[in-house]
Amino acid sequence: MPDTLTITDNRTGKTYEVPISDGTIRAMDLRQIRTGPDDFGLMSYDPAFTNTASCRSAITYIDGDRGVLEYRGYPIEQLAEKSTYLETAYLIIYGKLPTANELEEWTHNITYHTFVHENIKKFLEGFRYDAHPMGMLVGTVGALSTFYPDARHVDDPDSREMQTWRLIAKMPTIAAFAYRHNRGMPFVYPDNELSFAGNFLSMLWKMSEAKYQPNPVLERAVQVLFILHADHEQNCSANAMRSVGSSRSDPYSATAAAAAALYGPLHGGANEEVLRMLTEIGDKKRVPEFVKRFKSGEGRLMGFGHRVYKNYDPRAKIIKRTADQVFEITGRNPMLDIALELERIALEDDYFIERKLYPNVDFYSGIIYQALGFPVEMFPVLFAIPRTAGWVAQWREMITDPEQKIARPRQVYTGARGCTYVPLGERG
Ligand code: ACO
Repeated sequence: MPDTLTITDNRTGKTYEVPISDGTIRAMDLRQIRTGPDDFGLMSYDPAFTNTASCRSAITYIDGDRGVLEYRGYPIEQLAEKSTYLETAYLIIYGKLPTANELEEWTHNITYHTFVHENIKKFLEGFRYDAHPMGMLVGTVGALSTFYPDARHVDDPDSREMQTWRLIAKMPTIAAFAYRHNRGMPFVYPDNELSFAGNFLSMLWKMSEAKYQPNPVLERAVQVLFILHADHEQNCSANAMRSVGSSRSDPYSATAAAAAALYGPLHGGANEEVLRMLTEIGDKKRVPEFVKRFKSGEGRLMGFGHRVYKNYDPRAKIIKRTADQVFEITGRNPMLDIALELERIALEDDYFIERKLYPNVDFYSGIIYQALGFPVEMFPVLFAIPRTAGWVAQWREMITDPEQKIARPRQVYTGARGCTYVPLGERG
């Protein structure tokens, strides 16, 4: 059987045969389907890209029906158990697990770039004391492009390499500085003897002690959370990164756009919303009342549902396990009981069963973040730090893909045409 699709245009009676490859047809193959010489040709209409592949990618594989997530072919469960964040970031970016020497060099390159220019401190001090840290992160990462004008040479592989190290290395520093700014606390410079996660905790929590020693269980929990959040193929923020980067703007500007996309409550801002929702529910006994409200369309059950996963998000399962280890150190977060009850009731309810709505990564991550001592505003920032590896990998793949061009969707125009301008004084 040929790998083709036969289309009959009932308007003209003509038949067309278009090739099928990788389960897709090329939208441009539809253009030949026309009613006459003045017809532009057929387009596909897909608001929100619900059934459109925008690229070929070899980075992250998701089987949403089976709840499978793999980075470069490696199951997320194995990476969360055995890998470190920097090793996983290397895997995502270069497509293979590093050798010992490669990992050492990569770790050195990232560690070497953790410091930020002193002017960044002044820049951050310009924000109000109560500025949302995600707003500060978006603004500051975008501002990095003014510190590294060489970043505009996006077609130069050496420049791409340098910006890759800088972006991954500096995100935790900017994030920690934003947190300290909110707290009115002095900024803590990176401690390059610590691990990627340990250094981040040091920049957040270090006070007057000569050296901050992270609790190994909490440090590992942060590593695991970072691994789980490192990439997730063509989600809203990855799409923003690719789309902005496709105009050949520098990767800091593109990362600012990606982080801005992540900020929204339907994407990376959902973990913040989950905690606000759990706080509002306040008691296990009130869960049925809230579930009823969500079903009637009065708000959404935040942390539930996913465009791709129609099964339990594998990351949510791992986070649930990690939470138990964290609570042994920090004490149990009472929000967990409300979340467990919410999950139990929702998963037994026809509304959620029929729509295949399961907990996603954001449902339990906020509960750990809160137990670790983070205010809710920091939750999307904690997501953005590790996702930077994914954004950079997506951007690098897009830049070097000969099939990619500047992203420029079509529209179906529904507005007025051919109006005649009426001067202001003559308008009724
Ligand atoms: N609570 C209640 N109902 C929901 C929820 C929810 N969390 N999510 C979807 N639904 C319902 C919708 O109302 C719709 O019902 P209908 O068919 O009766 O109209 C149906 O399920 C399908 O929902 P859509 O919005 O069409 O699904 P979509 O794929 O566009 O949205 C999304 C996915 C945005 C994640 C959605 O499930 C949602 O808003 N969830 C809550 C926010 C959230 O947790 N976001 C984090 C996602 S993970 C991430 O970005 C890292």
